[in-house]
Amino acid sequence: MNVTHLECGACGLRHEAQRLQNLCTQCGKPLLVRYDLENAARSLTKDALKGRRADLWRYREVLPVSDDRNIVSLGEGFTPLLHASRLGSQIGLHGLYIKDEGQNPTQSFKARGMTAAVSMAKELSVTKLAVPSAGNAAGALAAYAACAGMEAHIFMPRDTPRANVIECEQTGAHVTLMDGLITDCGAEVGRRKAAEGWFDVSTLKEPYRIEGKKTMGYELAEQFNWQLPDVIIYPTGGGTGLIGMWKAFAEMEEMGWIGRKRPRMVTVQAAGCAPIVRAFEEGKRFADEFQNAHTTASGLRVPKAIGDFLIIDALRESGGTAVAVTDEELIDATKEIGSAEGIFCAPEGAACLPALKKLMAGGSVKSNETVVLFNTGSGVKYLESFSS
Ligand SMILES: Cc1ncc(COP(=O)(O)O)c(C=O)c1O
Ligand SMILES: [Zn+2]
Repeated sequence: MNVTHLECGACGLRHEAQRLQNLCTQCGKPLLVRYDLENAARSLTKDALKGRRADLWRYREVLPVSDDRNIVSLGEGFTPLLHASRLGSQIGLHGLYIKDEGQNPTQSFKARGMTAAVSMAKELSVTKLAVPSAGNAAGALAAYAACAGMEAHIFMPRDTPRANVIECEQTGAHVTLMDGLITDCGAEVGRRKAAEGWFDVSTLKEPYRIEGKKTMGYELAEQFNWQLPDVIIYPTGGGTGLIGMWKAFAEMEEMGWIGRKRPRMVTVQAAGCAPIVRAFEEGKRFADEFQNAHTTASGLRVPKAIGDFLIIDALRESGGTAVAVTDEELIDATKEIGSAEGIFCAPEGAACLPALKKLMAGGSVKSNETVVLFNTGSGVKYLESFSS
């Protein structure tokens, strides 16, 4: 167990690790898990990884569970990094890769966060979990809670894709559909959690989902043989994955695995809900709530992200940027990626392609660079979004 403490991402206040925590008790911002990385690096070596399990728990020393018996796993992570050579030659970019997160349990990268959060909940004796969700986090929580024998209480907007609602019901969760957005669902969890005895596992409102998601950064480094790509394009809602990967790069540097070079981090949002893009363009560190949010890419329908400053800091420090694409562009891109590469992307993942094209057209991504698009989920969950 290498966890030393939890640290507020905004004010730096230390919090105790081995007890239930949500946000910083001083400033209300997200908490990040800190490790004794010198100790972790003694057994977690590049060589040691070769014989380890083919899921994200291969990075055991930098994950926050002390007793192995508390790990709740469905085989998440270590997803393929596919060289998109046909699509790459169509758009003039030989070094184009897709990290296919649709191959996770419950068909999205949300499984990574939930394996960590539910495992820690088990370690800290929680029995009831609650989450507001745009859909995929709900499906993942329902599955991991079932696997752990816990209750899952899930709040989703009424227009969440049907597959997400059905998968939650079929894995035994308590599902409430609400008129409104994910922020309204979050407020409902906030109102009821104390009386109901629920642990709130909302994005970034507990410290562990980010730890599961950061393994995408470890995997990229390992799969590229410890050379990070030039650019990472990531569909951003709450931003857990982007913040997590940025954290992973810092940890790997501290362990001596990589140097100082970082990929340029690019946030993609839907034009109908682009609070981070707007704040980035206006030179702000905190994003205003986006009014009248709408997009068929339900995971991007997040009008206000509590970790906005952590996302924007990573974009700026990395020399990256934030790009908005229309729903028409992202739906068209699903077919373009699908027919060139055989990957049926979630609309959120597909949104990376039009964003990349804009960056190439503007000259900020060059044809000799290595670029990774994150397909964060499977298109199979979004049948309503596609007309045949
Ligand atoms: C498929 C998909 N992609 C991207 C996102 C946004 O993820 P994050 O909250 O890590 O920014 C979500 C969130 O629901 C999602 O379901
Ligand atoms: Zn704080």
